[in-house]
Amino acid sequence: MKNKRHITMGIETSCDETSIAIVADGRDILSNVISSQIDIHKNFGGVVPEIASRHHLENINGVINEAMAEAEIEIDDVDLIGVTCGPGLVGALLIGIATAKAISFAKDIPLIGVNHMHGHVSANYINYKELEPPFLSLIVSGGHTNIVMVNDYGDMDVLGSTRDDAVGEAYDKVARVIGLGYPGGPKIDEIAKAGNKEAVSFKRVYLEKDSYDFSFSGTKTGVLNFVNSEKQKGNDIIAADVAASFQEAVLEVIVNKALDAALKLKQDKIVVAGGVAANSRLRELLNEKATTKGIKVYWPDKLLCTDNGAMIATAAYYKMKKGEFSDLSLDAYPGLDI
Ligand code: KG4
Ligand code: ZN
Repeated sequence: MKNKRHITMGIETSCDETSIAIVADGRDILSNVISSQIDIHKNFGGVVPEIASRHHLENINGVINEAMAEAEIEIDDVDLIGVTCGPGLVGALLIGIATAKAISFAKDIPLIGVNHMHGHVSANYINYKELEPPFLSLIVSGGHTNIVMVNDYGDMDVLGSTRDDAVGEAYDKVARVIGLGYPGGPKIDEIAKAGNKEAVSFKRVYLEKDSYDFSFSGTKTGVLNFVNSEKQKGNDIIAADVAASFQEAVLEVIVNKALDAALKLKQDKIVVAGGVAANSRLRELLNEKATTKGIKVYWPDKLLCTDNGAMIATAAYYKMKKGEFSDLSLDAYPGLDI
């Protein structure tokens, strides 16, 4: 018998997680299986695209079966397939897309290609059942740093973007320099808790007055130069202090710009999305400052901050509501804009 709830299968393979989720009625997770390749890529200090594609291919069918078993559904119960079509690594994206198209064709299930960044924002719809656009969103991930105005489901205007490194990328590079390994974001988050955030005063880069753009490469280089000069002097680096000081410098700018945008645009909500939204100091700093200004901040569960199939299923569900279906000509768009 056909399941009475609307069932979406979300497929995410844009980087180094193979993730398949089953989501009911757009916002209820029945399963969200994430097979991470971190243990493989950490040996190389970062994601190796060819290796990522190969592992997606090896894993994807097993992950699909696991997700359906956990959700206690059969493939014939699936009403819609949502798949990430960009931005991301082209070879990695293609594995998800080819799989989605094959199932869609064989089982005659509607198909929708999803923008990965819209997926990240949509993770919040899962945690906050009452949340609806419009709202201001802060996107902080390994590939993006943006302040956007979300006008409607899947419809966003970009107010600001990074001009060089994404914030997650800066975290990962700094982590490597202070010997923490990949992925560095969660490691910096952890060790910074025991560090002194005033130990080193790294550059806060605000760019032009009223600009919502970001630049993190100067701060990152500042950390690099500091570490090198300390080493040359024969001094030991206190990794926890460097980590805490670095993240305070970048997070202060992010928080101030997001709040500034919310106040100027008269928005009383900031919806945070992307891997760096899991960061505990960002949560503390933004919550603290937003409260004093009467702004409510929304955060996805930590598991839904980083790449996962559930956020893709949710984004696809709302595209379906607007009749925005894809067909079998769906392709990978590695540089897809927000
Ligand atoms: O959103 P995401 O999973 O992938 C992209 O779409 O890019 O973000 C991954 C990024 C990585 O750079 C990772 O180091 C960072 O998010 N990240 C964190 C934390 N957890 C993940 N950065 C800081 N603190 C964290 N707790
Ligand atoms: Zn992502």
